Amino acid sequence: PRFAALIPAAGSGTRLGFGVPKALVELNGRTLLDRAIDNLSPLVDEVVVALPAGHSLDQGVKQIEGGATRQDTVFRLLQATEAEFVLIHDAARPFLSAKVIERIKGRVVQSGAVTAALPATDTLVHASGGFWGYLVDRSKTWAVQTPQAFRRNTILDAHLKALQEGFDATDDAGLASRYASNVELVLGDSRLFKVTTPADFELATAFAQIWDQ
Ligand code: CTP
Ligand code: MG
Repeated sequence: PRFAALIPAAGSGTRLGFGVPKALVELNGRTLLDRAIDNLSPLVDEVVVALPAGHSLDQGVKQIEGGATRQDTVFRLLQATEAEFVLIHDAARPFLSAKVIERIKGRVVQSGAVTAALPATDTLVHASGGFWGYLVDRSKTWAVQTPQAFRRNTILDAHLKALQEGFDATDDAGLASRYASNVELVLGDSRLFKVTTPADFELATAFAQIWDQ
C-alpha cells in the first residue's frame, strides 16, 4: 500500500486522570480511537493502531502493542507497515477532517516530511522560574499538531538515529527535522486540539455534539 495511517493510542492518559487509557474514553458515545480510525480509514490504504498492552479492538484494522513512550510506540508502528508513505495521527486528536488529511497527503508526496501546524495566535513568552523571561517573536512561531506524514524510509531513518543518540522527542516531525529532512508546515485546524487535560475533555465533549451533526 502507498499510504498507511499509523495511530498511536497506547498512552495511559495520566494528565486526563480517568484511570483508563485515554484513547478508549468516549465523546458523545464514540471513543477517541474509533473517531481517529473512522476519520482516516476512507482516505488511506491501510490503518495500523497501537494499543495499550492487554487491549484489542473488534474492528478489522491491524493492531499492535504500543511501547513505553510515544516515540517507542511510533517506532513499532513503523515496523508494522511497508507503505511508501505513513500518516501518523494521535488518537488524542479526535476532530480530524477529510480536508486536513487531503492537505497533508497532497504535500507529503513532494516534500517527504510534513506536519499539520497552526500559526500561533497567543502572545508567546519564554518563562524563567515562573516569571516572564522574554518575549518570543510570535510572527515566526507555529503550534505543531498531527497528522504528520513522511516517506516511511525518511522517518524510520530519523527514529533509528534518535535511538542511537538516546534522543526523545514529543513528535515525529521533531525527529525528522533533527535527523533526516526539512519538514514542511501545512495548515492544520484549531479543531485538531489534543485532548490532554480534564478541561480539554470538557471542550471536546461539548464540541463533539456539533461535530457529529
Ligand atoms: N501514546 C502512545 N504510546 C505511549 C504514549 C502515548 O501511543 N507510550 C499516544 C497516546 O495514546 C496519544 C498520543 O500518543 O494518542 C499523544 O500522547 P499524550 O497526549 O501524551 O497521551 P498520553 O500519553 O496517553 O497522556 P499522558 O501523557 O497525560 O499520560
Ligand atoms: Mg503522554
